[in-house]
Amino acid sequence: MTDGRTEATASVVMDGTFESSLLDVVPTPVVGSAVRRIDGPLKVTGRAKYAAEHHVDGLLHGAFVRAPFGRGRVTGLRTETACAMPGVLALIDDERLIRNGGDFGGDAAPPQGVRDVVYFGQPIAVAVAETFEAARAAAAAVQVEYELEEGIFDFDNALDQAQPPTDDIFGLFQIHSEQGDVDKAMAEAYAWVDEVWTTPSQAHAAMEPHAAIAQWRDGHLTINGSCQSPILARNQLATALAIEPGKVRIQSPFVGGGFGGKLGLMPEIVAAAVASEVTGRPVKVTLSRQQVFETTGRRPATRQRLRLAANGSGCLTAISHETTTDQLAGEIFFEPAGIATHSLYAGDNRMVDHKVVRVNKLLGVSMRAPGEAVGLLALECAMDELAEKLQLDPVELRLRNDPQVHPESGHPFSTRALTECLRLGAERFGWKNRTLVPGSLREGAWLIGCGMASASRGNLFGPSAARVRIGADGRVVIETEMTDIGTGTYTVLAQIASDLLGVPIGNVDVRLGDTDSPASAGSGGSWGAATSGSAVYAACQKLRTMLANAAGIAIEKATFSDGCLTADGVQRQIRDLAGDGMSVDGSAAPGEGNKAYDQCSYGAHFCEVRVNATTGEIRVSRWNSVFAAGRILNMRTATSQAIGGIVFGIGGAMTEEMVHDPRTGKVVNRDLGEYHVPVHADIPEIDVLFLEERDTVANPLNVKGVGELGVCGAGAAFANAIYNATGVRVREFPITLDKLL
Ligand code: MOS
Repeated sequence: MTDGRTEATASVVMDGTFESSLLDVVPTPVVGSAVRRIDGPLKVTGRAKYAAEHHVDGLLHGAFVRAPFGRGRVTGLRTETACAMPGVLALIDDERLIRNGGDFGGDAAPPQGVRDVVYFGQPIAVAVAETFEAARAAAAAVQVEYELEEGIFDFDNALDQAQPPTDDIFGLFQIHSEQGDVDKAMAEAYAWVDEVWTTPSQAHAAMEPHAAIAQWRDGHLTINGSCQSPILARNQLATALAIEPGKVRIQSPFVGGGFGGKLGLMPEIVAAAVASEVTGRPVKVTLSRQQVFETTGRRPATRQRLRLAANGSGCLTAISHETTTDQLAGEIFFEPAGIATHSLYAGDNRMVDHKVVRVNKLLGVSMRAPGEAVGLLALECAMDELAEKLQLDPVELRLRNDPQVHPESGHPFSTRALTECLRLGAERFGWKNRTLVPGSLREGAWLIGCGMASASRGNLFGPSAARVRIGADGRVVIETEMTDIGTGTYTVLAQIASDLLGVPIGNVDVRLGDTDSPASAGSGGSWGAATSGSAVYAACQKLRTMLANAAGIAIEKATFSDGCLTADGVQRQIRDLAGDGMSVDGSAAPGEGNKAYDQCSYGAHFCEVRVNATTGEIRVSRWNSVFAAGRILNMRTATSQAIGGIVFGIGGAMTEEMVHDPRTGKVVNRDLGEYHVPVHADIPEIDVLFLEERDTVANPLNVKGVGELGVCGAGAAFANAIYNATGVRVREFPITLDKLL
């Protein structure tokens, strides 16, 4: 008991099945409806404060001095001019500045010192001044003396140096798997495909650039940061600074997008922390858009060889997916492009393999659907090519090769509705009306074509906790370190508590993104809603029992709605039952039993494109997608996530390419004027349908991830439509118009 409040804990382990979710017996549920974002008004009125927007008295500003070369050693920093400039307090070239490690960096952050430069634009010092302008001017006035060393800047020319990745990343990504004899199956095939697809480095291009404000007070460090996972950033920062994690607090209540680019410790956080320590004052470090492109992280480039073999009945006999990707020396992340190939289609002879080439380019990190996003470009385009060789409808090819169990492990699938998505998607789109002969449908200058692809994204689960309190006033408060990066976390957590505790959603306050709150799995891997939602579920389940106990009735008889607990026709106000308040720390954890199932979300994309026969200009004109991702918590936010993912996929296939200067590795197109993401004018109305589904294996909410599902396969549907329109197969992404002429 604290202040008269009753406290308890509750936990749920993802083990066994959750056949009877409490969410299914709510009298008038808000879960599943299209509730508007509860944080929406704060955002559209500018009251939601993002990392750089906090006012702090005595604030200083830091600006990076960065390496003007791609590989070598800083031999001297000429700082006299910079330090003599008005308002400049310090020029810091602390070894710790470099200890940012991206999402999987951790203790294995790049091992070099701050003066050992391994990529163009690497931070080597930070100038600290009274104003942002003074800091930036000082940083620009520092003269960097250096000796060049030979670097590897061109992925394509270094493929012969490919080697296996150093780590399977906590077992998340399989480096290599093999069964049967792919070569033999290829030799005996009725029809086969053996081609190479390439994808370039890509930028996350989140709307909010990275920013952090750090303040030391009484031996404790507080950070306002833009983090997808504040706890991960905190732990990495503590390692970087060699201090106790408990002395660091990171707050990220609002995050303007991340897509993986804000997982883990990024350079602005460590720079602000070190600069604040050195100056004894709060310091803000904001990255310019160019700096985000050059010094945070990127999706690695890939070269993927796909081999498919089929018999005369259109059944796959072999699938082989060999990926070479690039990364910075010393980092462990690699792009697991073969990840979906393990389980998407049947076939007896199989291989998935990953190799890496160490290049001198900025850190390779997770980017939305790491693996599937680029891997399905190759696999789903290869399936289209195979269907053509078999003279089979590409939808039919996928239906014929839908496995009943995981084709490698033999594990059952939790729920797998790929075939339903394919059939329903084909019907909604009018797939049977498409033109079969590529390049044969033309309206004036425009060639018209249709394409489709499957979508699949692994459903992951990490430990997550949340505190749910009912105050003496009857208001419900949820506190968790989990973030809302634009995804809808505030709203879906409020919906879950509203339904389970029977209180109006307006009576639920959600407080996110603070490492002083119970730790979550963070916003990543499409697991945010499932993991933090399950923790809230566990807490609410316990609170229901506590309320029933307070009412002196058996929980089995109780219903919770309209702010009341009702049993045997008698209504009691939850506010009254809560007494001086009730608080439960709920937690959710992965379990062994859960590993016996293969869990993925599924979908199917169908689209129509128009290609100008004279200019090569590409227009996406129609799009239908159907997804199956378990229970949908909020139709509005889930649909927005799906649409955002599809747009992401179209961008990745059509325009997005981080161009590195082959002489230095420098990112040439380092802003949104030159790195082209789709805008509204590029995207048609997108029709998204979610199947009614409950995944009773996944978690007590019966949900699976949606955040990264939309991007999976979207680019392949687009590419396949381009082929159908023009008769041109482009296997080198992005499919810019010059490649069609
Ligand atoms: Mo995601 S790439 O796990 O933010």
